[in-house]
Amino acid sequence: MLSYRHSYHAGNFADVLKHIVQVAIIEYLKKKDKPFTVHDTHAGAGRYAIASEHMQKTGEYQDGIAKLFGKRTGFGVIDQYVSLVEKLNPVGRLTDYPGSPLISARLLREQDVLQCTELHTTDFALLKREFADDKRVQVLKEDAWQGLKALLPPQHRRGLVLIRPTRWKRITTACCLRCKWPWRNLPPPPMPSGTRCWTATAQKALFAVS
Ligand SMILES: C[S@@+](CC[C@H](N)C(=O)[O-])C[C@H]1O[C@@H](n2cnc3c(N)ncnc32)[C@H](O)[C@@H]1O
Repeated sequence: MLSYRHSYHAGNFADVLKHIVQVAIIEYLKKKDKPFTVHDTHAGAGRYAIASEHMQKTGEYQDGIAKLFGKRTGFGVIDQYVSLVEKLNPVGRLTDYPGSPLISARLLREQDVLQCTELHTTDFALLKREFADDKRVQVLKEDAWQGLKALLPPQHRRGLVLIRPTRWKRITTACCLRCKWPWRNLPPPPMPSGTRCWTATAQKALFAVS
């Protein structure tokens, strides 16, 4: 039984930072016409309603996407991310926040592929419904680790794997082995000096641009 629900935290500053990096990597992959695969190990629900009880209870999105919505920063990738969120909210009011699978799907081309694994029964059902008509997207109710083993390496040998930082070593090593990438023991991203945790760094970065 999974107790974590991302709907309490969707669109917070950490989500915003993560999703901006995701946009940057996907846009980089799109520089070549060759198809690529995005594999999302902990996909979540795909779309989050701002008016939902969960999002309203924590209000975390107010220190995240709400600060950027409707604004332009002059930084290409940040503005591209904000514009993607705005296109999901055509009335000009923030009603929906996209999770990582929806962000990928909005950016992928016809030839690209998205693979998602999600274990939570409710979030899996929402995700499956979100992509019911999208043939590029595969949604599995599968453990992240099992999905990784079953679906990697991708058919197209270019891609992006979105993982949770927990079990960093186990997952990155498995990705490298299955995709025959030459790296071993990839270190986790270094923590900038003077900061206690990534969360604090992300918050500072977001406040700097908002
Ligand atoms: C942080 S949330 C996902 C956020 C999403 N990637 C995004 O950026 O919008 C993590 C998700 O992983 C799911 N999860 C937890 N353990 C899992 C596992 N072992 N395999 C697959 N999904 C899992 C949870 O149900 C939750 O929806």
